[in-house]
Amino acid sequence: MGWRVLIQLRVGTRCLVCGCICAVWRWGSDDTQIEGTIVAPDEPKDWDPKSMRSWLSFYNLTKALFQGNGVIDGSGQKWWAASCKKNKSNPCKGAPSAVTIDSSSAIRVKGLTFQNSQQMNFVIARSNSVRVMDVKVSSPEDSPNTDGIHITDSTNVVLQNCKIGTGDDCISIVNGSSSIKMKNIYCGPGHGISIGSLGKDNSTGIVEKGGSGYVRAVRYQDVRMDDVSNPIIIDQFYCDSPKTCQNQTSAVEISQIMYRNISGTSKSEKAMKFACSDTVPCTRIILNDINLQRSDGTVETFCNSAAGIGYGYIQPSAECLSSSDKDKIIIEKEEEEEEIGQSSTEHLIHTDL
Ligand SMILES: *[C@@H]1O[C@H](CO)[C@@H](O)[C@H](O)[C@H]1NC(C)=O
Ligand SMILES: *[C@@H]1O[C@H](CO)[C@@H](O)[C@H](O)[C@H]1NC(C)=O
Ligand SMILES: *[C@@H]1O[C@H](CO)[C@@H](O)[C@H](O)[C@H]1NC(C)=O
Ligand SMILES: *[C@@H]1O[C@H](CO)[C@@H](O)[C@H](O)[C@H]1NC(C)=O
Ligand SMILES: *[C@@H]1O[C@H](CO)[C@@H](O)[C@H](O)[C@H]1NC(C)=O
Ligand SMILES: *[C@@H]1O[C@H](CO)[C@@H](O)[C@H](O)[C@H]1NC(C)=O
Repeated sequence: MGWRVLIQLRVGTRCLVCGCICAVWRWGSDDTQIEGTIVAPDEPKDWDPKSMRSWLSFYNLTKALFQGNGVIDGSGQKWWAASCKKNKSNPCKGAPSAVTIDSSSAIRVKGLTFQNSQQMNFVIARSNSVRVMDVKVSSPEDSPNTDGIHITDSTNVVLQNCKIGTGDDCISIVNGSSSIKMKNIYCGPGHGISIGSLGKDNSTGIVEKGGSGYVRAVRYQDVRMDDVSNPIIIDQFYCDSPKTCQNQTSAVEISQIMYRNISGTSKSEKAMKFACSDTVPCTRIILNDINLQRSDGTVETFCNSAAGIGYGYIQPSAECLSSSDKDKIIIEKEEEEEEIGQSSTEHLIHTDL
């Protein structure tokens, strides 16, 4: 027998939810309507050290819908100040993710706003079939490691009509993820849409050397960037330093990544960065209609061991992607199949919600 927990807050109410709700929450077919503001306690010292990594954590759900105009506020200011990114003499300890959906399936999240998270705003982990629509994320540009939406070990994830401003990655996708589609996304301020980037500053808590894994079948479409650093980035290297990293890679195989109609402004010279490992190169990267500019300088594409093709207008040019005719044929075939998949997904979204 499961529990049913309903969060119903009225407009204008603020509910202080104490830290570390870690429970098995199960739902019937009820919607979870969130209308007020759910605020985290702001003092890191009050946090239970045993559950330092998550605040609102939903585990083992099936068929759950979270919706409403509610705000989930992580009150992250003191956590940010204690970060090693803010002050080098602080230890790199990590902070809670605001909302985590873990080991769940058939999840819908609609309309909510995530703000000022302690670290990542919204994490989708070990889950299958998750649709996120009309979600807003808002954390300051200088808040450390506050990724907007972080996807790990998950399949069949659709993000649509989201507006994300943070201090770190707009959307980050790491090991064990496949069939991820994103459409009509606005990113800025912050960093871009990233794949790879495991274990930076211990922020993800999954620093594992070696091993193997994958990220495949990811599509970004109709993404607008506003003054973000590295708008498009694949990074298989461990370190997070501005200098070139050692050839110390995650050995995660990254393939079938499509970027279509991505435009806007880059804060960094490397508007597109495909930093793949020499031992496990990235394959089948497809670029179609990319227009990334920088207000005060030129932009460029960086490639290391990255194979793929670009077509349509591509700015900055991505000639550094290596390709072979064989890849090209496979890519074109995949794309046709993808197109069908995409339309059936949209059909599902409209009928399901
Ligand atoms: C997850 O939920 C299912 C029922 O949906 C249950 O059978 C299973 O024991 C749960 N797993 C855990 C680890 O709680
Ligand atoms: C950095 O942290 C150390 C110790 O936590 C503190 O003494 C120092 O004043 C801090 N520096 C800044 C610039 O906040
Ligand atoms: C990351 O965490 C590990 C273990 O918790 C620690 O040994 C290491 O020094 C940390 N890395 C950084 C950059 O602080
Ligand atoms: C990727 O995830 C798989 C399990 O899903 C794990 O076995 C592997 O070690 C992970 N690889 C890395 C580099 O973290
Ligand atoms: C490209 O994406 C933008 C959003 O950034 C959207 O407004 C525009 O309609 C898209 N163009 C096409 C041809 O779909
Ligand atoms: C990895 O090492 C090779 C040579 O061993 C070098 O050519 C390449 O640039 C290195 N990659 C990165 C990203 O440092």
